[in-house]
Amino acid sequence: MLAAVGSAVGLGNIWKFPYITGEYGGGAFVLVYLITVMLVGFSVMIAEMLIGYLGRRDCVANFETLAPRHKERWKYAGWMGLTGSLVMIYYSVVIGWIFHYIMVAITQLPATVEQAETVFGAMLTQHIGTQLFYHTIAFLITTAVVAKGIKGGIEKFNMVLIPALMGILAVMFVYATTLDGFSQAVGYMFTPDWSKLDSEAFVNAVGHAFFTLSLGMGAIMIYSASLPKEGSLVKSSLFVIAGDTIIALVAGLVLFTFLFQYGSEPGKGPGLVFISLPAVFYEMGAIGNVFSVLFFLGLAFAGLTSAVSLVEPMVQYLIDKFDMSRLKAAVTMGLFFYLLGIVAILSQIEWSAPYLTWGGKNFFDWADYMTSSVLLPIAGLVMAVFVGYVIEKERVASVLKPQMGWFFPVWYFSLRYIAPVALVIVMLNLMGVIVF
Ligand code: PFF
Repeated sequence: MLAAVGSAVGLGNIWKFPYITGEYGGGAFVLVYLITVMLVGFSVMIAEMLIGYLGRRDCVANFETLAPRHKERWKYAGWMGLTGSLVMIYYSVVIGWIFHYIMVAITQLPATVEQAETVFGAMLTQHIGTQLFYHTIAFLITTAVVAKGIKGGIEKFNMVLIPALMGILAVMFVYATTLDGFSQAVGYMFTPDWSKLDSEAFVNAVGHAFFTLSLGMGAIMIYSASLPKEGSLVKSSLFVIAGDTIIALVAGLVLFTFLFQYGSEPGKGPGLVFISLPAVFYEMGAIGNVFSVLFFLGLAFAGLTSAVSLVEPMVQYLIDKFDMSRLKAAVTMGLFFYLLGIVAILSQIEWSAPYLTWGGKNFFDWADYMTSSVLLPIAGLVMAVFVGYVIEKERVASVLKPQMGWFFPVWYFSLRYIAPVALVIVMLNLMGVIVF
């Protein structure tokens, strides 16, 4: 369960959630996101956990063994799930930036937002060596942990890093509550401004709910396969969802408090934690220095525990399907993502970007867009349909009814109707069929 929390809590909570909330004006986006997490996220998470819990194998084999008919065809659903791992292409690059920013925080924080913009821009578009160096470290750590397995590596890794991250956030949160900016941050995050909420914001809220809960790519499925038979899927999913949501909200409140307190703005996009925040830390003086190191350290911890879960489903597949040793599978997948990560880095470097940009998006942005907005929601839809319509209802009920009681029909309804409709709306919107 802790590993599943480690997977869910990641860059999505601390880096992405605050900046997309900022881009879509705060409260209204937060509300849509929270509703999606409760209605769609919860039902799909239980579905994904159930597939792992019943199948006990890798993502592809689970679909094959559990489908009552057309087993051959359902393996493609498993494959669909595995493609979500492609998040790792850019995830590891961002973890690399965070490592670099731990050093920036230790050595010299930029004094103004303009300086911070120059530092970040130079790293992104010119300093290929810096990015490569830290991306390599991220790759080595992830591969080493995955090579040691779920029990021997991933679980132990999470056992240390997750409490450390929570401690860091708790200290920063307590400090934030003492500042005037805190009430402004609360108002910003919890007072909906509906005028900013268009279909793009809606789609992003649904996409982000999937991303942040690690749904639709087999990570949650793989971890559930090692839940004890008497373990409760409902309790586990509530635990993961509550942990993930609380951390996102706390991180958002802390960041927005600091930004408002020092007169910065929240709508800065992906550079929020790399541009606005370092300048704010500088303004805070000595405590800002300490917080900046702690913050980037916490962010790195959050990222690494998710990164291992991004690689694990593919590794499990290689082990099951081709009888590969764990070490060989971890190195193979690690290298695969590592090399594509280098392409993502090159796609932002000034001289190589034009060769790696199509349709207004570079390779890095495509990797992000295709995974969060397209592949994860589609795979989530497939999982919802699989559990809601394909696996026999009696089989689903035999596990979940004792755990859910009267709530079972509510959940089943939401899985069969609400989640698929929300996900189909997202897809139609992406194809430009419905825009609102
Ligand atoms: N949930 C992670 C985050 O919020 O950063 C990202 C992620 C990890 C997505 C694992 C998907 C996944 F399978």
